[in-house]
Amino acid sequence: MKILVVGSGGREHALAWKLAQSERAQTVFVAPGNGGTELDTRLVTVDLHEPQALADFVVAEHIALTLVGPEVPLAAGIVNLFRSRGLKIFGPTREAAQLESSKDFAKSFMQRHGIPTAKYETFSDAAAAHAYIDANGAPIVIKADGLAAGKGVVVAMTLDEAHGAVEHMLADNAFGDAGARIVIEEFLAGEEASFIVMCDGKNVLALATSQDHKRLKDHDQGPNTGGMGAYSPAPIVTPSMHARVMREIINPTIQGMARDGIPFTGFLYAGLMIDADGNPRTLEFNCRMGDPETQPIMARLKSDFATVLEHACNGTLDTVELEWDRRTAVGVVMAAAGYPDSPRKGDVIDGIPPEAPECVTFHAGTRVVGGTLQANGGRVLCVVGLGDSVRMAQKRAYETVEKIHFNGAQYRRDIGWRGIK
Ligand code: AMP
Ligand code: GLY
Repeated sequence: MKILVVGSGGREHALAWKLAQSERAQTVFVAPGNGGTELDTRLVTVDLHEPQALADFVVAEHIALTLVGPEVPLAAGIVNLFRSRGLKIFGPTREAAQLESSKDFAKSFMQRHGIPTAKYETFSDAAAAHAYIDANGAPIVIKADGLAAGKGVVVAMTLDEAHGAVEHMLADNAFGDAGARIVIEEFLAGEEASFIVMCDGKNVLALATSQDHKRLKDHDQGPNTGGMGAYSPAPIVTPSMHARVMREIINPTIQGMARDGIPFTGFLYAGLMIDADGNPRTLEFNCRMGDPETQPIMARLKSDFATVLEHACNGTLDTVELEWDRRTAVGVVMAAAGYPDSPRKGDVIDGIPPEAPECVTFHAGTRVVGGTLQANGGRVLCVVGLGDSVRMAQKRAYETVEKIHFNGAQYRRDIGWRGIK
């Protein structure tokens, strides 16, 4: 069968890479893809962006199913469009994607269904927001309601920062409509983990656990980013924690959405905060796979992903059991100079070694210009190493990272540290 992957990041390269390994996949298309999907002879990169054009392409090429990577087309209703044209697609509808595209929707949903999360209130009036902050004190967390490409969350350690964030979002209109409403919530302390499942509307299949590294610099310093690296599995999610997250967060979410008349299909990603007493709470939902979490997760998946995806589209995920490489995968992101604020484009990349059984390099912001590979976005590459321990996996990833060169490359040297400590 022919399969289409929509998106252009490291996540989509990893998804397409895994799908292309399936005997059942005749052709794997990626739209619009990146330099890595273009150079990979097992993939076909097509320069299409708009949902309508993608649907036309799927019809013309007789593509059997489509997998959507990023949240923006999901929130815009690409699944609704494909389904209205009778095309198979894996992802949430526009309505279900509100779990990610509106923080207010997600928070009121969690409150209504008793899903553990931080206490919160929603504001569109700045004076009321300032008064709430003064009444509750710092630290406190301010979030733009809508999609803000990972920039809409301010974890304010002081009252000044908190008031400043309200001004920035509500008064200065920094995020446009996405920030016209804000959620202010209780600060939660603890350790984060990414808990991602696949849902077909009724059945839920958990993927391997992982942990992201949001800050730019080592020891979790510097500004927040889309994620500077991830590893899988995350030791903090023990078997009993796994069972608890399924029971208290994932299952009530899937059942609650169905009860509210918005059945959830697609990847559901719960960003967890696990406190010192071992209680998990939901920081956020994403309605898609994580980036860079997907890269180590796909590197560990042994099952035939094309078959899994077919079951996911057909509502038969209950018949699937996933098989994982028992090794740890560590994915190190190499970002462009100036990331996250103003990433520089055009730096020439060289030294990427060929894929090996214990190390693979996924591309994100890259493009091929006249036969030369160049940086073309914030996060440029994600190098994934596999090993019997976090340390071994880390060693393999960094050996490759050190062979790769582009001017101004930024990367953390401590990806996976929580798994070692
Ligand atoms: P979000 O996009 O909602 O996941 O927020 C981005 C990051 O902000 C999270 O990964 C956390 O590191 C942090 N964060 C979000 N909400 C909270 C909270 N209530 N308490 C502490 N940190 C938070
Ligand atoms: N790595 C975090 C995210 O994908 O949202």
